[in-house]
Amino acid sequence: RKPEPLKIMISGAPASGKGTQCELITKKYGLVHIAAGDLLRAEVAAGSENGRRAKEYMEKGKLVPNEIVVMMVKERLLQSDSQENGWLLDGYPRSLSQATALKELGFQPDLFILLEVPEEILVERVVGRRLDPVTGRIYHLKYSPPETEEIATRLTQRFDDTEDKVKLRLCTHHQNVESVLSMYEDIMVKVNGNVSKEDVFAQIDSALTKLLEEKNATLKSV
Ligand code: AP5
Repeated sequence: RKPEPLKIMISGAPASGKGTQCELITKKYGLVHIAAGDLLRAEVAAGSENGRRAKEYMEKGKLVPNEIVVMMVKERLLQSDSQENGWLLDGYPRSLSQATALKELGFQPDLFILLEVPEEILVERVVGRRLDPVTGRIYHLKYSPPETEEIATRLTQRFDDTEDKVKLRLCTHHQNVESVLSMYEDIMVKVNGNVSKEDVFAQIDSALTKLLEEKNATLKSV
């Protein structure tokens, strides 16, 4: 019998490195990456009514209302690939009400990863971040520069990646973070996010390896 697929949440302040680590985690563990921010940006790009409303909140660094976000994430979690391969939920839940809604729907993670990065580092990370629209990869002009000139010329910047806007996003983060953390205290692993991305991943990788071993051991003992 195969063990149940992994169900992981990753959390941390804006630009703490969630998306970067999710690229590395999915590459090794094959989980389905579900990022609330990416789902919302896709809706904005599609020009839907929900996207138009969501953008108003995102531009102010505020949480998008639950009636838009909760359904979006729930539908993605219920798709067969997430059920079969396991999921990696990024940037969700971000409030007590989202955490409660998820629990009521029966989505309980095995592990909650918290990336810890000092606040003074975050603004520089946001301002230097660039995205490759072709591959979806995340770059940083200083810490993770593009590999080729061709990639460099096509990089884009997110509309909420300015110094002013990240300060608003940080403020929203501080208002909500404690209530979310309190829901997952017993399965939380705190990771130092202020080292190179490879060294951050090494910490996460060891927590996930341990978790898989525990799951396999439980399976053998039943
Ligand atoms: P979202 O897209 O989730 O943004 P965020 O939480 O602010 O996080 P980021 O995507 O900015 O950062 P990250 O932690 O992924 O960092 P990254 O790896 O890119 O949300 C955007 C908006 O959508 C919200 O403001 C809200 O309005 C709305 N929203 C989202 N979820 C919602 C929800 N649940 N409910 C309601 N509304 C919601 O790294 C950042 C930079 O640092 C990159 O350039 C990277 O190359 C660099 N970097 C990464 N790791 C390292 C390292 N170890 N060393 C040096 N540089 C590094």
